[in-house]
Amino acid sequence: MSAIESVLQENRVFPPPEALAKQATISGMAGYNALCAEAERDYEGFWARLGRENLHWSKPFSRVLDESNAPFYKWFDDGELNASYNCLDRNLENGNADKTAIIFETDDGKVTHISYRELHARVCRFANGLKSLGIAKGDRVVIYMPMSVEGVVAMQACARIGATHSVVFGGFSSKSLHERIVDVGAVAVITADEQMRGGKALPLKNIVDEALTLGGAEAVRKVIVYRRTGGQVAWQAGRDLWMHELADAQSAECPAVPVEAEHPLFILYTSGSTGKPKGVQHSTGGYLLWAKMTMLWTFDLKPHDVFWCTADIGWVTGHTYIAYGPLAAGATQVMFEGVPTYPDAGRFWEMIQRLKVTIFYTAPTAIRSLIKAAEADSKVHPRQYDLSSLRLLGSVGEPINPEAWMWYHTNIGGGRCPVLDTFWQTETGGHVITPLPGATPLVPGSCTLPLPGIAAAIVDETGQDVPNGNGGILVIKRPWPAMIRTIWGDPERFKKSYFPPELGGTLYLAGDGSIRDKDTGYFTIMGRIDDVLNVSGHRMGTMEIESALVANPIVAEAAVVGRPDDTTGEAICAFVVLKRARPNDEEAKQIATELRNWVGKEIGPIAKPKEIRFGDNLPKTRSGKIMRRLLRSLAKNEEITQDTSTLENPAILEQLKQAR
Ligand code: WT7
Repeated sequence: MSAIESVLQENRVFPPPEALAKQATISGMAGYNALCAEAERDYEGFWARLGRENLHWSKPFSRVLDESNAPFYKWFDDGELNASYNCLDRNLENGNADKTAIIFETDDGKVTHISYRELHARVCRFANGLKSLGIAKGDRVVIYMPMSVEGVVAMQACARIGATHSVVFGGFSSKSLHERIVDVGAVAVITADEQMRGGKALPLKNIVDEALTLGGAEAVRKVIVYRRTGGQVAWQAGRDLWMHELADAQSAECPAVPVEAEHPLFILYTSGSTGKPKGVQHSTGGYLLWAKMTMLWTFDLKPHDVFWCTADIGWVTGHTYIAYGPLAAGATQVMFEGVPTYPDAGRFWEMIQRLKVTIFYTAPTAIRSLIKAAEADSKVHPRQYDLSSLRLLGSVGEPINPEAWMWYHTNIGGGRCPVLDTFWQTETGGHVITPLPGATPLVPGSCTLPLPGIAAAIVDETGQDVPNGNGGILVIKRPWPAMIRTIWGDPERFKKSYFPPELGGTLYLAGDGSIRDKDTGYFTIMGRIDDVLNVSGHRMGTMEIESALVANPIVAEAAVVGRPDDTTGEAICAFVVLKRARPNDEEAKQIATELRNWVGKEIGPIAKPKEIRFGDNLPKTRSGKIMRRLLRSLAKNEEITQDTSTLENPAILEQLKQAR
C-alpha cells in the first residue's frame, strides 16, 4: 500500500500530551486559532508585532510589507539589523553568556562545549580576519566545510560583516562547487583540509583547488582553510591561508554591521527542473524572524532544552535549524560531525542518551535505515538506550510513511513525544506546514496544518481552489517574511518557477502535490510534481543527472526518472543509450559502474543512479519527445497500462524491461 493510501485510511490520532500542551508557547488549538485569526484580521500587523518582539533592530522598521514590485516582495525594508548580533550579542546581553550554545561531537566521539561568550569571541575574531582581507558587505563568500563549529563561525562571521555566504554541501564534486563559485561570484572560499566521516578522511581543500583551476573563478582571491585533520594539502602562497592563523591574530571584538532587512544573508543552491541549480536568495530580517519563531513555535523551545538537528550545514535545514534559528532563540544545541552508522547504527540513540537531548530533528531516510539496522541487530535497537530525556521529535525533508512515523513515535519517543512532520523547502526559509507540539492532534503521515500567517492552499492547474478531499497543487497564497527573494542573477526564472502565469501569477508554487483531509483540513504531501527527485531527503534534478550522463563521451542519450525506494524514499533510475552497440550483461555491469562513478565526479556521490538500464533507444513520441511516464512505469517494474499509441518505437519497451 502506498504511503498516501495508508494516510488516507489513517484513523490513529495522537492528541498533544496534556502537560506539554499546558506549558507550550502555542497552547491548544485555541492558541493556534487565535494566532491564525490575528494574522487574518491584520496580516501586516501580525508580522510587524512578531518582528518587533523577536528581533533586535538597530534601526526599527516602519514599513512591513512592500508589494509594489510583486512577486519581488520586501519585508521590513526600511529597518536595519544584523543576524549575528541577534544570534550572539543578544545572548550575551540576556544572561546567556555562559550558557552552552553548541555541544560539538566529532566523528570519533570527542565532545566540546562552546558557550555563547566563546562563540561570540570566535565569530568576532574570524569576522575581523575576513575584514583584514578586504572582504566587506555585499561580497559573496563560498563555504565548503565539514560539520564543525568552524562552519557555523564562518557563516556567522560573514553575517556579522554583511558578506553574503553561499554554503556548498561537502559532498558535492569539484565541478558542482565550481559552478556555484562562478554563478555566485565569490571573492573567497572557506574550506577545511579534510573532513572526517565514519572514520574516513575525505578531501575538501583539494577539491576546492580543482574547482578553482576550472576557470571563470578568478574573482576568488583567498582560500581560507580550517585545519581539521592535518592531512596533506597543496598550498598556493598568497591565496591560501589557515583559518586559525587568520583569526588568532585578531581582536575578539567586532562590531556587527547593521544591514537593511532585505540584505541577502545567504544564497543557497538547490535543484530545479532544468540542468542548472538555482541560487535561492534569502533576506536577513524576514528570514531570521522565521528561523527564530519556528524554534519557539514548532519546537516549543524552552531554556533547558538540548536541541539536536542532524542535518548538514550544507542544506537549508542546517542553515535555519543549526546556524541561525537555535542561536537566535538562545538554545543549547548538539552538532555532530559524523554519520549515524559509525561506529555502529546505535550512534544517534547513544548520543541522545549521553548528551540528554530533549528535541531531536532528523530525516525519514535516517529513521528508515536505522529501523532496518535495529531489526537486523538488537544491539543497536533503541530499546538498549535510555531515551527518556526526549520530549519532542521532528521529521523533515521528505514524506514520512505512517509505518516509519509509528516506529519513531513508539521506539524513539516512547509513545510520549509528539512527532512533528515539518513540511518546508529551501525556498520557504523555515517550516510552513507542521504540527505544533502543544496544540495539534497528530495523524501519522500528515504534516497537518499551516503555521499561523502561512496561507497554504491546494489548487488545480488553473489556480482555482479545490475542495478538501481532492488532490491538487500546493501553493501559498500570500507572501511571508522568510520566503525566497529571487534566484541569484535570474529574476525571470524566479518569476516563472515560483509564480507561474498559468496559476494567475500571484500564487507561490511549492512544486509539490498535496491533498487535504475532508474533515480536518490536514495536509498530506504527495511528492514533487516537477522533474525534481527526492533521494534520502536530498533534492536532485533529473535534468542535472541527465546532463552529467550525456557529458560522458560514450553516452548518446540518457533519461532519468525516480522510483519509490523503501529506504531512500526515491531512487534514481537512468535509461541510457550508448554511442556503441548495446552492451551484453557482463559489459553492462561494468559500464554501469563506470557511469555511476562518472556522475559521482560530475555532481557528487548523492547523484549516482541506483540503477542504469541500456537500450538501443528511448521510448519516444513521433515528434521525438521522451515519454517519461513510460520510463517511470518501467523503473517501477510495473505492467505498462498507459496508452502507447503515440509511441514511435513500441518494441523498445520490451527491450528496456528485459534490460534490468
Ligand atoms: C522538498 C524541499 C525542508 C528542508 C529540507 C529539504 C520535500 C520536505 C517534507 C515533509 C513531505 C517534504 C518536498 C519539498 N519535503 N519536507 N515534511 N513531507 N515532503 O529542502 O531540499 O528544498 O526540498 O522536500 O518535496 O518540496 P529542499
